[in-house]
Amino acid sequence: MSLDRRRFLQGLGAGTLAALTGCKTTGAPAAAVSTSTPLPAYADVSDAAYWSAVRDQYLLDPALTYLNTGGLGPAAKPVLDVYTRTMLEQQRQGAHGHELFHDARETVAESFGVTADEIAFARNATEGNSTIAAGLKLAPGDEVIFESHAHPGGSFPWYNQANVRGVVVKLFEPDPESVEGNVARIRALITPRTKVIQISHVTAPTGIVLPAAEIGRLAHAHGIWFHIDGAQSAGMFPFGLRELECDSYATSGHKWMGGPHETGVLFIRKERLHEVMPSETGSYSGILDQLPGDLQYVPTAQRHEAGTRNAASVVSLAAAVEFHHQVGRERIAAHGRELAVFLADELRRMPGITVLTPARPELRGSITSFRSDHVRYDELFGRLMGDHHFRCRPVSEQHLDCVRVSTHLFNTADDCVRLLDAIRTVIRQA
Ligand SMILES: Cc1ncc(COP(=O)(O)O)c(C=O)c1O
Repeated sequence: MSLDRRRFLQGLGAGTLAALTGCKTTGAPAAAVSTSTPLPAYADVSDAAYWSAVRDQYLLDPALTYLNTGGLGPAAKPVLDVYTRTMLEQQRQGAHGHELFHDARETVAESFGVTADEIAFARNATEGNSTIAAGLKLAPGDEVIFESHAHPGGSFPWYNQANVRGVVVKLFEPDPESVEGNVARIRALITPRTKVIQISHVTAPTGIVLPAAEIGRLAHAHGIWFHIDGAQSAGMFPFGLRELECDSYATSGHKWMGGPHETGVLFIRKERLHEVMPSETGSYSGILDQLPGDLQYVPTAQRHEAGTRNAASVVSLAAAVEFHHQVGRERIAAHGRELAVFLADELRRMPGITVLTPARPELRGSITSFRSDHVRYDELFGRLMGDHHFRCRPVSEQHLDCVRVSTHLFNTADDCVRLLDAIRTVIRQA
């Protein structure tokens, strides 16, 4: 821990969130999330008791069953505690807290298996995707390929480049059946003008896990930049960015990672940093002792951060990473996925239900999207929410017309059993 950070954290008053929410804190310094979180050791309790203890770390309204982490993931109480204490201490000291970015960057970089120099803090995945789309040197007629299921946060940055500088967008339909099918569909679109391939690591509407490494190898065999929109993958399951073979990767902190709202991460591979021109610059993106004079970018991905930022958000995102480490990243992935597989298997047994999320293990994670022949998807979503208090997500994109369920570390088998009962009731009453 840097000296600056230690000094700042020593000033943090404990128990702020406790005062605001009634939850228990130990008074440990803000960074020590793992020691301040009263979770039992996994080996000491039953599986159900462990996940119930994890669930207790969230403020979620008990009257609502929250199944929309793919939209917005709640932050755990220890993370919110770090946020609140950091923010209040900043107010107390009149401190911008920028020195706290250093350790937070190290923590986040380590969790992705890359170096801190390759990480920029963004406000969300959209901002990271936009930085890549606007920053790569592209000429009119240069082509980008991405999937037709891309979220607007992944597709609009490119449609904007189509408007601004004549970039040509080419779409492939994701293949829910096979890894090679996805690679083949992209390969078929590559031309000498293809400069960028982008994929969603996990597609937003139906949760298809696209084969990033295979697509990355294809891109690099053709000298094409490979960017991943990871809004739905970071925090759902662990992976190293080097293994994904990508040049850049953007994600939201406020979904599966469990960071506070308006957090995000942009990774750019060190060797290719110079190929992405910053779209916004200011304090922290340039070397200040050059002033007045030319702008010289700092030699790291930090050049994509400009101006004063909310240090409490950034520090709490790192705290969220530490919280996931404490719970167990592989364990979280297995838990969310196990619930999703259970849901999908049960849904497939119901007459008139189609599950759109792939059944193949290599193509799926912790999202389950389905539709019913008996009830429109928007009505089904509305009834689940209004009558039964399950917060899922209606999917109208690409006319997929389905309901999406996200299962994460705070969800339990009981949530899924009750959801299935509610779906049966809505269909029976239709
Ligand atoms: C694949 C994908 N990309 C980008 C986004 C946009 O995320 P944000 O609003 O955090 O920028 C989402 C949001 O659901 C998403 O699923």
